[in-house]
Amino acid sequence: PPRITTTTLAQMARDAQPITMLTAYDFPTAQILDEAGVDCLLVGDSMAMVVQGHETTLPVTMDQMIYHAEMVGRAAQRALVVVDLPFPEGQLSIEQSLRAGARVLKETRCHAVKLEGGSEQAQRIEALATAGIPVMAHVGLRPQNVHQDGGYRVQRDTEKLILDANTAEQAGAFAVLIECVPTDTARQITEALSVPTIGIGAGPHVSGQVLVTNDLIGLTAGYLPRFVKQYDNLRQTISHSVRSYCDEVRSGEYPEAKHSFK
Ligand code: KIV
Ligand code: NA
Repeated sequence: PPRITTTTLAQMARDAQPITMLTAYDFPTAQILDEAGVDCLLVGDSMAMVVQGHETTLPVTMDQMIYHAEMVGRAAQRALVVVDLPFPEGQLSIEQSLRAGARVLKETRCHAVKLEGGSEQAQRIEALATAGIPVMAHVGLRPQNVHQDGGYRVQRDTEKLILDANTAEQAGAFAVLIECVPTDTARQITEALSVPTIGIGAGPHVSGQVLVTNDLIGLTAGYLPRFVKQYDNLRQTISHSVRSYCDEVRSGEYPEAKHSFK
């Protein structure tokens, strides 16, 4: 199948054909998602929480993002692959962001970066886009701002959100991700923009949806945000397999002759 590009996504949005996006952090998972037809893969800094076990997205480093982006880039044959600029590569000088973005394109087979922020990131988005590094902007709830914001909550300043998204588009973002805003706000943003909007906790009136894969397949322990739909329970499936293995090793049922060499 032909590679999904930023142009494909723009066309899908114009045709009102919903865009599917999910996170991926490793080769086998990225391969499964790509083969299942997910349009866009995100090597998200959510990796800090769902893979590394941290409490926020802040600890993951640029080197670690590159290491995982390499794996995902190797697996994706069809999907467009977006890589998060982690904290603080998206906040330091524009030159540092350019170097980080260039690493994504030079060292991995991924295609674009994602950057948290709207209006305040206009110059950075413009610099990256001008350098040939496609940028997805990320407005609304910005997990890298958790300490500044004092927690994670629904973002309700509609005027500022529309301004953020518009400014990001004007600066050259090829798409805008919208996290945790009321349905009607996301609809207004989507109507105001000509580039695709990708929602998470933003309701149905957007160009596409994104979720953290670990949440939707049931690998995440404990609290799940309201916007997650859990389609499977892989924790249970894996636990069941592993308990069966342990039971059979302890009882001598495994390995059998067919698993052994003469
Ligand atoms: O890091 C991530 O997974 C994200 C999604 C929640 C959109 O940014
Ligand atoms: Na992220």
